[in-house]
Amino acid sequence: MNALLLYCRPGFEKECAAEIQHRAMSVAAGYAEAKPNTGYVLYKCFTEGDAEYLVRRLQFWRLIFARQMIACTAHLKDISVDDRVAEVLEAAQSLPLCGELIVEPTDTNEGKELSKFCRKFSVPLRQKLRKHNKLTDKPKADKPVMHLCVLSGTEMMLGYSIPGNNSRFEMGIPRLRHPKDAPSRSSLKLEEAFLTFVPPEETEKRVTSGMNAVDLGASPGGWTYQLVRRGMMVSAVDNGPMDQALMDTGQVKHFQEDGFGFEPKRKNVTWLVCDMVEKPGRVARLMGQWLANRWCEEAIFNLKLPMKQRFSEAERCLDLMKQYLRDEGVRYQVTAKHLYHDREEITVHLRREPRRDR
Ligand SMILES: C[S@@+](CC[C@H](N)C(=O)[O-])C[C@H]1O[C@@H](n2cnc3c(N)ncnc32)[C@H](O)[C@@H]1O
Repeated sequence: MNALLLYCRPGFEKECAAEIQHRAMSVAAGYAEAKPNTGYVLYKCFTEGDAEYLVRRLQFWRLIFARQMIACTAHLKDISVDDRVAEVLEAAQSLPLCGELIVEPTDTNEGKELSKFCRKFSVPLRQKLRKHNKLTDKPKADKPVMHLCVLSGTEMMLGYSIPGNNSRFEMGIPRLRHPKDAPSRSSLKLEEAFLTFVPPEETEKRVTSGMNAVDLGASPGGWTYQLVRRGMMVSAVDNGPMDQALMDTGQVKHFQEDGFGFEPKRKNVTWLVCDMVEKPGRVARLMGQWLANRWCEEAIFNLKLPMKQRFSEAERCLDLMKQYLRDEGVRYQVTAKHLYHDREEITVHLRREPRRDR
């Protein structure tokens, strides 16, 4: 096997395939293979060794629909149930020395039933891999991560990802617990976004108590809840009602206004977040304007994509926003991801490029 293995949300294989075809083709020729509702896509390379080249060359953070990116070197089928470990070990001989092993199912109903098997199977496999010098004795964060993707008890795909160019979460999914007192489930979306877009070592500086934030389309307050929890003062903009417990914190000011016409009075806003249900092109442009006007430093927003060509529509909206920012002479960084808690939408992080310390 000489393929890139990408995990995605089941039902979004088409988007993930269109995107990898678009990004990888000019780097290493191949074709994307996707089956609906499997939760993964394979980009099969024509030239030997290209998958291992791609997993280093392609920038994972630039992929919207992929949750994980793995150089897949073996697709094991009809594995003998008597000695699965031996078969996987043999296939692992071609892998580099890895610093960690993850045995994981796909994000499907069949996958859920395999979670226990994965946990159990990882124990003897880890021991054998260590004994045969395929895995370091202690986890090493600077070495490749070995992935065994379990499709069934007799079918598995083996490969590795590169630290710093992968998702640090198992299955590419951060495990978050819904806070009991959050006013809506979409609260977790913003929590996942902060985890995804702000590196842990920068969180204390960039997402912190005392900052000012604006939440456009805030009702009933799931996203505002996350900002308040981090000690921020929030202007919540929405005609709809806000959760009373949030208002009682004294950290929230409710503006019953149109989010497209709202302008912060004082220009001291660090974070803009926006979850308005609106045309994605319109939202992307508004976000570009906030950054160009210096009304915020960083923004996290959703682009709702209920249409069929979701990848091309996402690209179109992001390109319009980037073009607008370039025309305005703004230097920016942008990352877009289809998060675990996103459904027919993607989440985007936009940031004014920070000044470099001399
Ligand atoms: C998906 S809900 C937001 C949920 C919220 N993020 C939460 O976690 O509770 C979308 C909200 O956008 C608001 N909205 C839509 N268009 C808007 C506009 N032009 N200005 C302000 N709010 C708007 C709606 O009233 C609705 O409350």
